[in-house]
Amino acid sequence: MTRFLVTGAAGFIGSALVRALAEHGEQVRGLDNLSTGKRENLAGAKVDFREADLNDFPAVADACRGVEYVLHQAALPSVPKSVADPLASNSAAPKNAPSAFRLAEALLCFPQQR
Ligand SMILES: NC(=O)c1ccc[n+]([C@@H]2O[C@H](COP(=O)([O-])OP(=O)(O)OC[C@H]3O[C@@H](n4cnc5c(N)ncnc54)[C@H](O)[C@@H]3O)[C@@H](O)[C@H]2O)c1
Repeated sequence: MTRFLVTGAAGFIGSALVRALAEHGEQVRGLDNLSTGKRENLAGAKVDFREADLNDFPAVADACRGVEYVLHQAALPSVPKSVADPLASNSAAPKNAPSAFRLAEALLCFPQQR
């Protein structure tokens, strides 16, 4: 069973989490739309990486399959970007209700995991 899903896996914090978990022998899946993150950040890491957007519910639900813990780091944390495109920044924010609910809804697809 994949234990951890890291959103924003190709970003600064997400990729560090992926590496730390994988180095501890955990099974890790990563999700990132690569809008600002880079695949190179995960070079050599043992991770089941999915290039997908948080707004793509089928992809998010599929990424939640078999997962016990979600570490939600996907975000557009740039202040200038949030001014230029507030909707995009809001939809990716880790503590943003729509993206958090989307993840929660996806996890509810697999109640046997909890
Ligand atoms: N870096 C820091 O020092 C720091 C400190 C405190 C808090 N934080 C918070 O931690 C979170 C992550 O920060 P970071 O520095 O790793 O940012 P980051 O920009 O390096 O990583 C965010 C990742 O999310 C991905 N992403 C953005 N929108 C997405 C979407 N709709 N679907 C899927 N993936 C998407 C991006 O491609 C990127 O890889 C942010 O909320 C930030 O505010 C960061």
